[in-house]
Amino acid sequence: MKTIGVLTSGGDSPGMNAAIRGVVRTAITLGMKVVGVRRGFQGLIDNDHEHMTGRSVSEIIQRGGTILYTARSDEFMTRAGQEAAAKTCRELNLDALVIIGGDGSFKGAADLSDLGINVMCIPGTIDQDISCTEYTIGFDTAVNTAMEAIDKIRDTSTSHERCSIIEVMGRHNGQIALWCGIANGAEEILLPENYDYNEQKIVENIIKSRKKGKRHHIIINAEGVGDSEKMAKRLEAATGISARATILGYMQRGGNPSCKDRVYASIMGAMAVEAVSQGKKNRVIARVKGEFVDIDLKEGLAMEKKFPQEYYRISKQLDRV
Ligand code: F6P
Repeated sequence: MKTIGVLTSGGDSPGMNAAIRGVVRTAITLGMKVVGVRRGFQGLIDNDHEHMTGRSVSEIIQRGGTILYTARSDEFMTRAGQEAAAKTCRELNLDALVIIGGDGSFKGAADLSDLGINVMCIPGTIDQDISCTEYTIGFDTAVNTAMEAIDKIRDTSTSHERCSIIEVMGRHNGQIALWCGIANGAEEILLPENYDYNEQKIVENIIKSRKKGKRHHIIINAEGVGDSEKMAKRLEAATGISARATILGYMQRGGNPSCKDRVYASIMGAMAVEAVSQGKKNRVIARVKGEFVDIDLKEGLAMEKKFPQEYYRISKQLDRV
C-alpha cells in the first residue's frame, strides 16, 4: 500500500482545503494511506502529523484557510532542517509528499527532492506569481474579495469627492493590483513590475480628472510600491483634494473560496495523487494554456515570470478618459 503525505506551506489561500480534500479522497479511492503534516515544513521537521481519512476532510471544501495549518519555517531554510524533514518522510514511509504552497514552498520542495524525497507541488497562493502556471489556488477568491471591498470604498470616495489609495497584497507581484485596477475602474494602478511611478504625474492626473468632472480618484497601490498612508498625505497636500489610504491586508487571504478556486483546487489535488499512482516523480500540477498538466518541478522553477503587459496597457487606455 502506498503512503502519501500532504502539507500546506507559506501564506494560506482560499481553496487550500479543497486541494487537501482532493488529495485525501483521491488517495483513498486509489487504495493509498494519507498522512497530513501540520504547519508545513516545520511540521515535517517536528514530525507533527495525523493519519487522514475520508471524514478528516468532511465539511472543508467551502472553508478558507487550511485545516493543516501553515508556517514559514526558518529552520527548513538550513541544510540540517531539510535533512530532518527528509528523515521524517522516510520514517513515515512516504512514497510522495504533496506540497500546497507558493514559489518559496516549491523551492523547499526542490530541496527535499535533492534528498531523495518524491514531491508533488500544487500552486496555492493569492499572489498568482508562480512562473510555470497560469493559475494559483486562492487568486480568484482574493481578487473578488478585494474588488468588492474597493467597490464599497468607491461609494465613500465619490460621496466625499476624495482620492482613495487602496493597497492590495501580492508581495513582489502586481497581479492582484492589476486585476482589481481593471475590475474597479481605477484611475491609477501602481505596480512593482511597471515602475513608471511618478508622483507629480499622479498629482496632475488628479487635478485633470477633477476638471473633467470625475468625483473620485481611485489609486490601486500594490504592496511594496510605496507607503500608502504617506502617499495620501502628500497627494492631499499637492492637490488640495482630500485623500485617504486603505490597506486591505489579510481580509484578501481569508474567506470562503470561490467556485473556481474550489473546482480547480479539487482537480489539482486529485491530479497530484494520480501522478504518484502513475509512478511520476517531482512534478508541479499546473494550468498551462487553459489545460491542467503536470510538469517537471525544476523545469517549472527555471521558467521566467511573465507579466501581462497587455492588461496594463489597456487599463491605462480605459481609465484616463
Ligand atoms: O504570499 C501571500 C502574501 O499574502 C503576500 O501577498 C504578502 O506579501 C505576504 O503573503 C504576507 O506575508 P505574511 O503572512 O508573513 O504576513
